[in-house]
This record gives sequence, C-alpha cells and structure tokens, in this order.
Amino acid sequence: MPGKQPVLIRTIAEMRQAMKPYKANGSRVGLVPTMGALHAGHASLLKRARSECNVVVASVYVNPTQFGPNEDFNKYPRQLPLDLDRCGREGVDYVFAPADAEMYGGGTQTLIHVAKLTERLCGTFRPGHFDGVCTVVAKLFNIVQPDLTYFGQKDAQQVTVLKRMVADLNVPLQIVVCPTIREGDGLAMSSRNAFLSVEQRKQALCLYNALQAGRNVIVQGIKTSSRINAIMRDVVLAAGPFATDYLEAVDAQTLQPMEELAGTVLLAGAIRIGATRLIDNLLVDVT
Ligand code: PAF
Repeated sequence: MPGKQPVLIRTIAEMRQAMKPYKANGSRVGLVPTMGALHAGHASLLKRARSECNVVVASVYVNPTQFGPNEDFNKYPRQLPLDLDRCGREGVDYVFAPADAEMYGGGTQTLIHVAKLTERLCGTFRPGHFDGVCTVVAKLFNIVQPDLTYFGQKDAQQVTVLKRMVADLNVPLQIVVCPTIREGDGLAMSSRNAFLSVEQRKQALCLYNALQAGRNVIVQGIKTSSRINAIMRDVVLAAGPFATDYLEAVDAQTLQPMEELAGTVLLAGAIRIGATRLIDNLLVDVT
C-alpha cells in the first residue's frame, strides 16, 4: 500500500524550522537516524517510532566521518527515492537527507569521543569509527531535538556507546533500543547483506550459527568465556576461511571480557565474508 510521501528536508535551517511548531505545542518528536538503504530492520524502528511519537523524523545520511580510509564509504548503497517510499509506507513525516557540505561544511573541528566502551570489539578494528558515529548522532540530536530516538540492538556496541554519550552530555532524550530483525534463516538484516553473492549469503549464516552455539553451551551450564569463544570460532572456521575480527562473550554493560560469565552477557561477533564485514550479537542472561 503506498503511503503519503514524507517531506524531504535538505538543510539544517529547514529542519529546525519544521520542528518548531511541534516543540512549541509539546508534541513528542521521534528520530530514527539511518544511513539509508532501508530494510525491514529500519522499518521496525520506524514503526516503533510511529506508534510512540506524534511526529516521526528519519535521517538518511551516509556519514563520512565514521568510515575508515579503506572502508566501504564510496560503495555504500545510496537509494534515496526507494528510502522515501519506504518511509512513506511506515508513516514517517519528515526525511532529513543533508549533503556533506551541510553537515560538515565550515571547517568543523569537533569530534565526540567516548573512551573505554569504544576501545574493544569494533573499536579495535575500526579506529575512529565511534567518534564519527557519536559526532554525527550528536549533531542530529541538536538539529532535530527529538524526545525519543530509535536504534537497533544489531549494533550493540553503537547503542552502548551512544547511551553513554547521552548520559555523559546530559542530552535530554530517551534512546529506545529495538530487537534485531532477521531474515527467515536467521541472518541479521543489514544494508551490507546486499554486497554478498548467492554463495556468500549462504556462508554468512555461520556468524549467527556461531552465536547460537555459544548461547546453547551457556544454557547447558558452561560459563568459562575462553571455552565459549573457542566453540563460536570453531563454527565459523568450519564454514570457510573467513577472517574473524572478534567473536567473544563480554559483559553487556561494560563490553569488557570476563573469564567466568555472570549477569547479562553479550555474545558479539564481526566476520569478513570476502570484502564484506558483517556484525551480529545475542544477549544471554547467565544465572
Ligand atoms: O547505525 C547507523 O546506521 C549509523 O551508525 C548511524 C547511527 C545512522 C550514524 O550515522
């Protein structure tokens, strides 16, 4: 069913102007930050925002500052017309899609750095990535001034880092974390799945299989993280010669490793299938 097309906004000044009446009359403003190439995972965030807010803004912006020099910034999928249709179907009111010059023109010199939480997992393999994410998200928060903002659990470290930033900088909004949406066979939805060949798409499932194997052995009573990490790595190795950036059990709050698992544990992994880097995670309560 085609929905009403959202209003497309390209400039910060227009975005602020559009939000003014809602802020003035106490409407609840929801923001879903995205880099576009919207899939069912994003749609679940948009739906949740629609159900909880009076006005819903989606940002569509492939943020250059969160990509490393050898990463996939140039080939990251860009498809604004399709994204506008999808936003229309999900009842989004405004799509904010600025150009790079609008976001970073004027000789910007500020980067937001969250310390400890960014030092492990993706932070080790993507230096500077979370500084770029925090900076653009802080800018989006200041531009749209949402009451609620929506992120996917699929990017578990991103969510943990952004929650820390919001707490540390006293940003007056609430972060809502929505469950990971998976394909029928369990592969976590990601805009990067589009880069996989048919063969690689089948192989990519080994990441979710590994995390599930980790969860199964925890449920069976094994709580030593080195054993669980080894079991998860074996599942990926058995599937093919894929580089594993990391695949490990960590404390869900601190993202630090712990030898004897306790409390809420995050099983998190990042592997490379050919040139495509995929991430996924599962939360497990260890009693
Ligand atoms: O999760 C993403 O798509 C991006 O990291 C975000 C939060 C939109 C910032 O560019």
